[in-house]
Amino acid sequence: MPSSLQCIDCAQQYPLMRVIYACERCGGLLDVAHDFDKSAKPITRSLFDERLGALDPPYSSGVWRFKEIVYPDIEDAQIVSRGEGNTNLYPLPRVAAYAGVDTLLLKHEGENPTGSFKDRGMTSGVTHARRLGMQRVACASTGNTSASMASYAAMAGMQGIIFLQNTAIALGKLAQGIAYGGTCLQINADFDRNMALVRQVAERLGIYVLNSINPFRLEGQKTILFEALQQMRWQAPDWIVVPGGNLGNSSAFGKALLEMHQLGLIDRLPRLAIVQAEGANPLYRHYAGGFRDFQPVKAETIATAIKIGDPVNLQKAIRALEWTGGVVEQVSDQQIMDAKALIDGIGIGCEPASACSVAGARKLVERGIIKRGDTVLGVLTGHVLKDPQATIGYHADELPGITPTLRNPMLSAEADLEQIVELLSPHPKPLPQNEGGA
Ligand code: F0G
Repeated sequence: MPSSLQCIDCAQQYPLMRVIYACERCGGLLDVAHDFDKSAKPITRSLFDERLGALDPPYSSGVWRFKEIVYPDIEDAQIVSRGEGNTNLYPLPRVAAYAGVDTLLLKHEGENPTGSFKDRGMTSGVTHARRLGMQRVACASTGNTSASMASYAAMAGMQGIIFLQNTAIALGKLAQGIAYGGTCLQINADFDRNMALVRQVAERLGIYVLNSINPFRLEGQKTILFEALQQMRWQAPDWIVVPGGNLGNSSAFGKALLEMHQLGLIDRLPRLAIVQAEGANPLYRHYAGGFRDFQPVKAETIATAIKIGDPVNLQKAIRALEWTGGVVEQVSDQQIMDAKALIDGIGIGCEPASACSVAGARKLVERGIIKRGDTVLGVLTGHVLKDPQATIGYHADELPGITPTLRNPMLSAEADLEQIVELLSPHPKPLPQNEGGA
């Protein structure tokens, strides 16, 4: 078997089929470690490039196209997939100008089957659950993990059990969990408490946990960067900017970059910039304090996806920062919502947490850390339809503490022809003084 589970702290190894989420010796987080030297096929750019345009599974999926560096020894028939990935990489000059750089590309992970990047981790996680023979899977979630898990569990014929905070979930996400047949448990507890609860309940009842503490999730999420770099013809950008909540993506990105570099798929390592909301910034504080004495925070932000105060993947994210010379930034809810309005208004759209990438890039440019000439790859993590309350609240100017500087106010009229024509007629600008008349 070319892969095993390995502790990131003490390197203790465990067989791939052990149901285990932390090292039994030291409590450290686990990686799925691959022995790429034992790969059935040589791992080269052309191996993956030749699969582009594949019409049939597994290689038609933007996750399983990279099977040799995600889950090498899985049989194709065992894979639970919805053809995830294959998301657009948008070069966006107007967003670049807003951030203050010449070149900014946004990888839109909201274009996945359930509208977020979680599908990339769920196809690998649920595939492994099926291989283990699991009947029941569970997660705590701010909404996207649960939507994705409910969908993939339904596809695999498993029960998906969802621990949700009874407030602070975006409506699109809640609707998905219910619609896909998930067992939705609303609990009077925030995400961090629910995360602890789901692990205890899963242990008692023999349920498989599909949060990003599960290392198989992160293997799938690595493909965000495999695919983005393939779209960039394997030319690494200077920076990769990503929102940070439970820090699964940040962790997956560190591993993806290191592996791509080791395998010679990219020639140099980009720097990682992890962006948190000011009200949910435990990594930012830890980074600013020189990584001494980690303190969880009580999280509060309009970007409910990342309303997390005690991220489970902290140590892996710190490792990713070390590997890539990375930085951590924080942005206010105002900055998040303005960046979102910009991304939405150019016709692309995203949910609030996603806009941290652009708001964070802008702040890092202002602070002189990202240079104007640097190439920046940002990740949009979720679809604009996920959180209609936040979008409508912004444009209606009904969000407490937020001034909608890029407001698109709704117009209203009676069913009256003249009134509507008047409303839609271009109104000439008043002429400047002394320039009018004959
Ligand atoms: N963006 C979106 C849209 C998310 O849903 C999440 C996480 C993140 C960013 C942060 O990613 O946790 O890997 O650092 N959502 C999780 C959930 C927590 O339950 O859906 P992370």
